[in-house]
Amino acid sequence: MRHEIVEKNVGLLAILILVVISFGGLAEIVPLFFQKETTTPIEGLKPLTALELEGRDIYIREGCVGCHSQMIRPFRAETERYGHYSVAGEFVYDHPFLWGSKRTGPDLARVGGRYSDAWHRAHLYNPRDVVPESKMPEYPWLFANTLDGEGTAQKMSAMRHLGVPYTDEEIAGAKQQVRGQQEITALIAYLQQLGTVLKDTR
Ligand code: HEC
Repeated sequence: MRHEIVEKNVGLLAILILVVISFGGLAEIVPLFFQKETTTPIEGLKPLTALELEGRDIYIREGCVGCHSQMIRPFRAETERYGHYSVAGEFVYDHPFLWGSKRTGPDLARVGGRYSDAWHRAHLYNPRDVVPESKMPEYPWLFANTLDGEGTAQKMSAMRHLGVPYTDEEIAGAKQQVRGQQEITALIAYLQQLGTVLKDTR
């Protein structure tokens, strides 16, 4: 029996399993690249400003993504707590995605506007000052570091190559907008816009 050959030969079995799984993967993943819903920005979505983009890089550098997801799943328990579930069109300008996979802290996909800038400053300086039981690390150096804006225009051009519609004026004005700003200001600017385009329709 030919099937017996496959069953008794582990190497062959492994290869054939891989072939079968990759067909399944192709059928599920490839169509997503061509689905309009996943590649069209939602109405009102704008690229991050120069300052917000720098804030996003600080978010990446400090590893916030290791404890915070940015992906609200379409379950009642999630939407009751965080707001409207995340949709693909919100992330079209996000390179790379910061969806995350671990929630030591709450999801941040719609944290924009939930707290004041002053709250975020206090919280990031020392989370225990505003949430006594918090085990989030403190980030006091964000208050001491300032941005020089040297690389900002190049970052925006790189994003434009990836399809983010920055104008020449926005790129030309990037350094001016960013230079001399505290890192904490940039990070909070980034946080405050998260998830604000898709209004909660509950
Ligand atoms: C070690 C895990 C960890 C890391 C790293 C971390 N956080 Fe947190 N974060 C938490 C926890 C736990 C909470 C909930 C307690 C609190 O509010 O402090 C939290 C809460 C928050 C909140 C409030 C969310 C809400 O809806 O109440 C914000 C905003 C936040 N973090 C931003 C950040 C940013 C920005 C960074 C990176 C600079 C970061 N966190 C890094 C664990 C973490």
